[in-house]
Amino acid sequence: MVLKNITVLGSGIMGHGIAQISAMSGYRVVLRDIEKQFLDKAMEKVKWSLQKLSEKNKITNAQVDEYYNNITPVIDLKEAVKDADLVIEAVPEDYNIKKNVYRDLDIVSNNNVIYASNTSTLPITELSKLTKNPSKFIGVHFFNPPQLMKLVEVIPGSDTDPSITNEISNFVKGLGKTPILCKKDVVGFIVNRVFIPLVHEAVYCQDRDNVTMQIIDSAVKYKLAFPMGIFELADYTGIDVIYKATQEMSSRDKKVILPHPKIKELYDRKQLGQKSGQGFYQYKGDKYERIDLSEEKASKYDPTAILGVALNNASWLISNEVCTKEDLDNALNLGMGLKTNLFELANKFGVQKIVNELKKLEIYGEFYHPNEYLLALK
Ligand code: CAA
Repeated sequence: MVLKNITVLGSGIMGHGIAQISAMSGYRVVLRDIEKQFLDKAMEKVKWSLQKLSEKNKITNAQVDEYYNNITPVIDLKEAVKDADLVIEAVPEDYNIKKNVYRDLDIVSNNNVIYASNTSTLPITELSKLTKNPSKFIGVHFFNPPQLMKLVEVIPGSDTDPSITNEISNFVKGLGKTPILCKKDVVGFIVNRVFIPLVHEAVYCQDRDNVTMQIIDSAVKYKLAFPMGIFELADYTGIDVIYKATQEMSSRDKKVILPHPKIKELYDRKQLGQKSGQGFYQYKGDKYERIDLSEEKASKYDPTAILGVALNNASWLISNEVCTKEDLDNALNLGMGLKTNLFELANKFGVQKIVNELKKLEIYGEFYHPNEYLLALK
């Protein structure tokens, strides 16, 4: 089957970006949301991003218009999916919202259409069973910003037809991205299994060590070679996304995450990060903005606990054969922009020191118990 028409459901941070890169690869794209104001905002963001890319000579001025015009914003669901070969669902990370969307979608979509969910944490098999055709259902998990991040996790559910996995992996390659197969449908898949718990850990570090967020973030950026600090990245991703991912992950597997109450507090106060002007940090508006981090601030903090938590979850993924170590390194590099592989950092910091730190933290819960793969590295 040749995919030509893509419909993206949900025009938020991920939806508008996925629509944009699909449009940039020559697909005819429909971007669907439930209110005009959401679509207007999304199309504004698409314009901003295309103009940024043209400023950097990655695309021409004529392409800005061409790609923009390849996207049709639509509110009516039936109209949105009438010609679709592939529907990419990127609605909020809430099981009940997704359940309602798939119920409505099943009524109006034709039988050949492939459903791909951009869920960041919900089990694909569980979602696929909500639909009329689980064999044509798959997870395609993009990373924020989809326009720049090269990774897409591809997650087949237990009923997904292997031909669909193949077709979607080729679609992802056609977008200029790298598909990495998540071999088991585990909560958080690969990258979020590492990333989401780190947000909570960064807040625990602040409590335990009584240092500022900028100091922790600077250490993460300059000592762990992340492109952004953890608090900065959480604000950039959206506190609502972090909160909902946390809920979905911890309700399915208590050991995967140690939730810190601060995330729920921010979420309840609608301090959703950069998009609302306030999250962990304060922002001037809802536009792309960076936090002032420095090597000087980094020198005041030892981020061993943060590295330990990342390594421990990475070790769990490898020891449970969700992915290989090579795929893990690629996923973190392409999905989160990590400039140094985690296990290289482990050698630099000292595996024994990291394990000792995790053991010290075990008083706070089994979450910190060092994984056998990590222990075997000593
Ligand atoms: N489209 C086009 N250009 C964009 C853009 C977009 N969407 N977003 C940012 N840019 C531009 C910036 O405006 C900037 O342009 P200028 O040079 O003109 O200022 C340029 O890209 C580079 O940005 P920065 O100077 O801020 O530098 P950077 O080198 O740090 O790159 C980044 C930015 C790619 C976002 C990088 O910081 C990064 O990789 N951050 C980590 C992102 C990450 O971890 N994402 C995954 C989050 S988890 C997730 O998404 C999954 C989930 O389910 C929760």
